[in-house]
Amino acid sequence: MSKLFSQAQFGDVTLKNRITMSPMCMYSCFDEDGKITPFHMTHYISRAAGQVGLVFTEATAVQPEGRISAQDLGIWNDAHVEGLKNLNEQIHAYDAKSGIQLGHAGRKADLESTIYAPSAIAFNENYKEPKEMTTDAIKETISAFKNGARRAKEAGFDIIELHGAHGYLINQFLSPLTNVRTDSYGGSKENRYRFLSEIIESVKTEWDGPIFVRISTDEYNENGNTLDDFYFYAKEMKKQGIDLIDCSSGGVVPAKISAYPGYQIPRCEAIKKEVSIATGAIGLITTGIQAEEILQNDRADLIFVARALLRNPYWPKQVADELGEPIEPPTQYKRGWH
Ligand code: FNR
Repeated sequence: MSKLFSQAQFGDVTLKNRITMSPMCMYSCFDEDGKITPFHMTHYISRAAGQVGLVFTEATAVQPEGRISAQDLGIWNDAHVEGLKNLNEQIHAYDAKSGIQLGHAGRKADLESTIYAPSAIAFNENYKEPKEMTTDAIKETISAFKNGARRAKEAGFDIIELHGAHGYLINQFLSPLTNVRTDSYGGSKENRYRFLSEIIESVKTEWDGPIFVRISTDEYNENGNTLDDFYFYAKEMKKQGIDLIDCSSGGVVPAKISAYPGYQIPRCEAIKKEVSIATGAIGLITTGIQAEEILQNDRADLIFVARALLRNPYWPKQVADELGEPIEPPTQYKRGWH
């Protein structure tokens, strides 16, 4: 049997296979209210029907000023719970598990309102200069992650992923390129980690399920975090009980990235080996053979797939055929699946 179609266990959550739909912003909320629309229902439920084991929502904002765009999903208000709950019921009806990526865009928020970051440095000339966060603002945002976790639980999600990658707020605190603070949240790597550490602790007061963290494992800049810094963060996360590190890269500062199949896997594998923690592989994974190679060689534990799943919601069926693996169709498709 292939490893891709073997079960994976995180705490009490059993995934029926290791195919994970990677978080992807869909810019589809009406009225800038952060609520689920019919599009989101169709989009996520199709992938669950397509037999993805774990379906992640897009980066879902814990505060309105933390949206990447005004059309992003939100979880800053109790009014967001109902729509997310309906979504989860449908995802679960296809025997898939659901995850929510909790995020805050920080200086990369493309919004009319004031935007916030650890330091008042704009991403580039197309972005606004953010306001440096006060200690009170930091505490408020940490508490917003906690409230997001409480609502995620009420909505019936199985897994939370904290978005610490791609140059968004958590990543801005982690990176010396974007964090030049002189208080206890800036300076040394221990201090730069403090924001994420406090978010994890506050989320845990409301959430006892599995927690993943997505990080950018390469900042493509000689003055950015080094692989050793990432080992340090990963070890800290392990101590705090994080279940999986989802290993992406880039987005912290403008940089030229040469992307090719498997380009993010060496660091994903290095972190897994150095820290003995589960990792998620992501980036230009398009075939079953490629996914199987990563898993069989113990380079990662889950395979995150983004664009291939946009092109084909039935990608799991496509790669199951490729690997000669019989998979159960959703009940409705039983007469025509094979
Ligand atoms: C993304 N990506 C992304 N990542 C993330 O952590 N949160 C997000 O909300 C988004 N949004 C998003 C939107 C769209 C339209 C795309 C295409 C991508 C990144 C994504 O999850 C993934 O890491 C990359 O796309 C690389 O994987 P693939 O596409 O090569 O499988």
